[in-house]
Amino acid sequence: MDTRYNTLFIGKVLLEYERLDSTNSQAERLLKEKNLAEGTVIFTSEQFSGRGQVGNSWFSDSNKNISISIILQPKLDFPKYQFALNQIVSLGIRDFIGTYLSNAKIKWPNDIMIDNKKVAGVLIQNSISKKQISNSIVGIGINVNQDFFPVGLGKPTSMFLETEKQYDIKELLGHLFSNIEAWYLKLKSGKFKEIDDEYHKYLYLKNELHLFKDSKGDIFKGSIIGVSNDGRLNVKTSNGLKKFMFKEISLV
Ligand code: BTN
Repeated sequence: MDTRYNTLFIGKVLLEYERLDSTNSQAERLLKEKNLAEGTVIFTSEQFSGRGQVGNSWFSDSNKNISISIILQPKLDFPKYQFALNQIVSLGIRDFIGTYLSNAKIKWPNDIMIDNKKVAGVLIQNSISKKQISNSIVGIGINVNQDFFPVGLGKPTSMFLETEKQYDIKELLGHLFSNIEAWYLKLKSGKFKEIDDEYHKYLYLKNELHLFKDSKGDIFKGSIIGVSNDGRLNVKTSNGLKKFMFKEISLV
């Protein structure tokens, strides 16, 4: 038991590793062997094969950033509440980063942005049993003290690059866990409207005219007006309202 953190359950069990391929992969391996208590966190100082969304990789220098996976057991109906789980994780990370940086936003579905640069990403892997989310591996990567990124990674940033301050990773973790737990408890008590309202309050590019590309490669102008409860992005275009699943649309 780890009692360093002032939370009810997130981080009470902290499994620390010097080096791992991926905290999400380690969580998968452990869950195959045994049950993990809700709130268990898998932490590594060095992640050498970090996984991003849709098969991308996730870059992180050793000892500089937050690379963790949190085990949650929400027991919520699937797929009905799958996106709400994404929303509360994004909100918890956003609130955490928001205490250090004033302009943190959520880029649909769950990237955290500072202006037009990505500071954090999330990879959630759900196991479904009896139409409910039984185990959720919530993988979180936050660029904290990273001072340099290799070329070709899009537009990344870090808390250090934005504030010119160095942060103590272990100290930050407690704060991050509290923020995520607070939103998770709202999810468990059914505060779906509050969650959805807050998610939309911080939605990146909301109501701004922008160029997008669909999965056929067609470029069009539109503005994001929101996200449906099923997680689809709603974009107002000159041809009416269009709804997109993840990876059916990208920013140009
Ligand atoms: C993305 O934006 O593409 C998602 C990035 C998720 C990265 C984190 S780092 C900790 C956890 N372990 C992984 O292998 N990936 C996630």
